[in-house]
Amino acid sequence: MNIGILTSGGDCPGLNAVIRGVVRKGIRAYGASFTGVRDGWRGLLEDDVHPLHVTDVRGLSGRGGTILGTSRTHPYSGGGPARMREVMERRGIDALVAIGGEGTLAGAARLAGEGINIVGVPKTIDNDLDGTDYTFGFDTAAAIATEAIDRLRTTAESHHRCMVVEVMGRHVGWIALHSGMAGGAHAILIPEFPQSYEQICAWVTSAADRGRAPIVVVAEGFTVAGEDDTPVADRGLDKHGRARLGGIGEMLAPVIEERTGIETRATTLGHLQRGGSPTAYDRVLSTRLGMAAADAALTGEYGKMVSLRGTRIELVELSAATEGLKKVPLERWEEAQILLG
Ligand code: F6P
Repeated sequence: MNIGILTSGGDCPGLNAVIRGVVRKGIRAYGASFTGVRDGWRGLLEDDVHPLHVTDVRGLSGRGGTILGTSRTHPYSGGGPARMREVMERRGIDALVAIGGEGTLAGAARLAGEGINIVGVPKTIDNDLDGTDYTFGFDTAAAIATEAIDRLRTTAESHHRCMVVEVMGRHVGWIALHSGMAGGAHAILIPEFPQSYEQICAWVTSAADRGRAPIVVVAEGFTVAGEDDTPVADRGLDKHGRARLGGIGEMLAPVIEERTGIETRATTLGHLQRGGSPTAYDRVLSTRLGMAAADAALTGEYGKMVSLRGTRIELVELSAATEGLKKVPLERWEEAQILLG
């Protein structure tokens, strides 16, 4: 059997480890062959594919990015499933492993419903996919954000400043919650629980009164309670749909400075959180997911997605990934609040 592999949507540390896991397991346990699809669905729609050998995946477990490239091309553009079927037939591809986030997996679920042999692997640093306990890339992103908080703390203490650290998380606050807990932040601001300027400034002042350099971790999708509830990143888009304004961190810092009288700086971590090597945890999780995806694709478990349940890798319906966003629950938020200070 020949399996096509594609990575789609934003990149994420661990993608290469998944590819390596799929190929190694597929070749060693099933004698399968593989086709690499370039730049997600685009490669399949434009017949931009190439054989993927075991030597191509050597040494990949620690390499960031994706050797296959990625894009945000929609699977139903440019001929859609009919065109995909034609390319798969011509290239002798029997089934696909699609590694991607919510959009990719929703597309994969629809394609599976139309008879394309496909297995999904969930991916996002934001950790917001339902249907799996954790996504690979999240641990790496949280570790990078934690290191940034540690570094910002020493410069903040030297200058008696407040630091606002903006992390990724368009819809959910998992990276902010985990890095804020790990880094000992004094305020953790996430989209799930909007807070007022008064509350944010009270946290900052209380930390400063105890002689601490206040650290505020804010997820990019956070909105201030009682103010415009459109996330800052979604306001004032240019013709490419890109935000013209700075992010929420840059918006908060001057307000905190003005209201508390404490000099405040903002740092936006941005794509630093997606680049570079995955952590050991993410390498192992990605590899296990990749190996399980090879099993599913080579035993005909199409329309399924590999998923982490506790410590086990299981198969769930592809549609489970797109049923809803996995938000930070109230108890996790309250747990973090006890630690602040
Ligand atoms: O979906 C993951 C994510 O990291 C979001 O948190 C962030 O808003 C987005 O990707 C940024 O994507 P892009 O690479 O298109 O700027």
